[in-house]
Amino acid sequence: MAIKTILRMGDLRLYRVAEVVEDIQADFIPEIIADMYDTARVHHGAGIAAPQLAYDYRIILFGLPTSRYIGADLVPETVLINPEIKILSNETENYWEGCLSVPGIRGLVSRPNHIFYRGYTPLGELIEREVKGFHARVVQHELDHLDGILFPSRVKNARLLAFEEVEGFAELKQRVQEGEFV
Ligand code: NI
Repeated sequence: MAIKTILRMGDLRLYRVAEVVEDIQADFIPEIIADMYDTARVHHGAGIAAPQLAYDYRIILFGLPTSRYIGADLVPETVLINPEIKILSNETENYWEGCLSVPGIRGLVSRPNHIFYRGYTPLGELIEREVKGFHARVVQHELDHLDGILFPSRVKNARLLAFEEVEGFAELKQRVQEGEFV
């Protein structure tokens, strides 16, 4: 177990399509998951994906209680190996996403708000859930990492990327919501 360095945007290892885990109970999997927990917790992430720690496998973790995101507490703490999702509605929602691989930046990302997902726990149990809202978003964000996609490439307009610590970010968000800033 260790707190690992999180790869940041621009590192080519973040843009790979991660490998399917062929043997969920392989010896090296628990260590990867422990590193994901330790690293995500210390940075207050809502979730983390194995490729962010340079592990080229389809493993995601989300629903951490130490998350810096409002609403994240409603998401059960979950590790998923080889996750898959299915979009259940064309309805989308906007949200200012962040990512441990893109520190300090938020971007307004539109995503479907109702999905079904499935994947395996480290014990090999199948998890299947139909979810909405923040839960659906965090799963889609983490799954994107497994396909080499970072949230800024989901932002439709680059003007909707901002440093979260800038004074005025709250006002920017307000203006965007009111349709006064695009
Ligand atoms: Ni991320």
